[in-house]
Amino acid sequence: MKRILTQIKKFQYFYPYTVAIVGAQSKNLINYMACAWHTALSFDPPLFGILISKKRLTHQVISEAREFTVNFIGAEKVKLSAQMGRKSGHDTDKIKEFQVKLSPSKIINSPVVEESYVSFECKVTDIRAYGDHDLFVGEVLALHEEENAFSEEGVLNPGKIRPLLYLGSDFYITINPDSLQHVFPD
Ligand SMILES: Cc1cc2nc3c(=O)[nH]c(=O)nc-3n(C[C@H](O)[C@H](O)[C@H](O)COP(=O)(O)O)c2cc1C
Repeated sequence: MKRILTQIKKFQYFYPYTVAIVGAQSKNLINYMACAWHTALSFDPPLFGILISKKRLTHQVISEAREFTVNFIGAEKVKLSAQMGRKSGHDTDKIKEFQVKLSPSKIINSPVVEESYVSFECKVTDIRAYGDHDLFVGEVLALHEEENAFSEEGVLNPGKIRPLLYLGSDFYITINPDSLQHVFPD
């Protein structure tokens, strides 16, 4: 028997989602937050979307900067996700308080988060409202990848990287590399 709900109070039944730390540096502000609602939108040109509530300081900073970085972190960096995702830059300077290590981008002004296994530098191409979140679309202008994190084909190396996966609320999990399968249709 399946339970059927017509009033959706939680919207995380499709998790786990990989955790990205997203943010930007505008003229006066630098701020990053945890983001689970993100998606690739186009391969050519490479477009990446992130969904951000208007309440977040990160919304303001990316809107001003017209650029952002997307930074994927390993499961060992789970505390960083809680710090960036449960505290707001409206109340505290998270970069200073949690001593987040940033490094310069190649093309845009906003830095990438150093402790990531892969980061995207994105230039905003569109901002569109969808209900209580806004979709920020960014063209990926540069990609920073940790050595040996990906194969030649760009497939994540599960022997080296355990991506941080979010289950909702304050729960996280990661992959089991022993479950890897290389599968063909025939
Ligand atoms: C793992 C995780 C994922 C999150 N994903 C999103 C998201 O996709 N979009 C969003 O608007 N908020 C998301 N949040 C909430 C923001 O990260 C949180 O409200 C943060 O404090 C906002 O910081 P800011 O006000 O400094 O921008 C997430 C929180 C966590 C812990």
